[in-house]
Amino acid sequence: MKILAIETSCDESSVAIVDSGFHILSNVISSQIDLHRRFGGVVPELASRAHQEALLPLIEQALEEAQCVIEDIDAFAVTYGPGLSGALMVGLSCAKSLSLFFEKPLIGVNHVEAHIYANFMGQKAILPCVAMIVSGGHTLLAKVSGWGKYEILGQTRDDAAGEAFDKVANMLKLGYPGGPIVDRLAKQGDRKKIFFPRAKVKGSPLCFSFSGLKTAVLYHLREKKEEEIKAAIPDICASFQEAVVDVLCSKSFKALEDCGLGHLAVGGGVSMNSRLREAMMDLGEEKKVQVTFPGKNLSADNAAMIGGLAYEKWSAGIVDDLELEVDPCLPISNWVK
Ligand code: KG4
Ligand code: ZN
Repeated sequence: MKILAIETSCDESSVAIVDSGFHILSNVISSQIDLHRRFGGVVPELASRAHQEALLPLIEQALEEAQCVIEDIDAFAVTYGPGLSGALMVGLSCAKSLSLFFEKPLIGVNHVEAHIYANFMGQKAILPCVAMIVSGGHTLLAKVSGWGKYEILGQTRDDAAGEAFDKVANMLKLGYPGGPIVDRLAKQGDRKKIFFPRAKVKGSPLCFSFSGLKTAVLYHLREKKEEEIKAAIPDICASFQEAVVDVLCSKSFKALEDCGLGHLAVGGGVSMNSRLREAMMDLGEEKKVQVTFPGKNLSADNAAMIGGLAYEKWSAGIVDDLELEVDPCLPISNWVK
């Protein structure tokens, strides 16, 4: 069962060919980072146009790398939400056209759900588990009882973790996207130098809030002269990062405890953060809990995870028709009773 999958929800165009849910034959990604960098963030209109230009050459490349021809493809999968509406539309229109022309099923996939699935590609799946998705647009904890069977345990009330990294990097004039730059600079800093707040959400111990932390960094910078800030950048990055990591670790391990589960699957772009990985692995060892992260090229946005989850939906008898529409705010929902 070969699925050609398309991902265009934000600033990465990606096409993958995945056999039977886990065998990745190709996973080509074209990043738009250089296009958006000078604006300090993603410009939705530019993103849509860049997806349009990138998609057909990427499909050709994905087929070539997978050593297939389009007639070998059994179904077409696509991200239909959440994400930028115009960007999603480019991918969905393309997938619909392919499905119509080649008379093969169309399978719409939720991007956040696919970030969870990325953990299970190439590794032995342990379900049920607790999943923590930390990306530029989302921060959530969910109990995963099976594919299509989720219970949301907590979400962010304001900024996503990746958004906080990007905004703090912006305040420090470090460039875009900020997460990897903060991660790199933090390695030279002292994570205990400045204490930034670890926000608690009243009445919802598994929910997140990062806007107060962002403001705390802003206030810290306000009191300092430019040269002083420059010299302190590694310490600020390390201390800010530690505050985020601390909160992500404590809430995900509380969720594991509450659910009585022994496997934590972490995903999304922020799961590439080196300190987060280190802290999570250490805690996992201490508490005898298995912690997994997606493999290479599967943490950030990619189409292989879309093709993988699409296989599970197809196996459960779920396919879409040409009426499928993009949903920029698509929530995680249960598609298995
Ligand atoms: O999952 P993703 O590629 O796109 C979304 O679905 O949002 O995540 C992108 C986010 C960005 O905010 C980026 O700054 C962050 O992931 N990110 C990181 C690291 N690498 C990417 N954040 C912290 N440390 C990193 N090493
Ligand atoms: Zn993503």
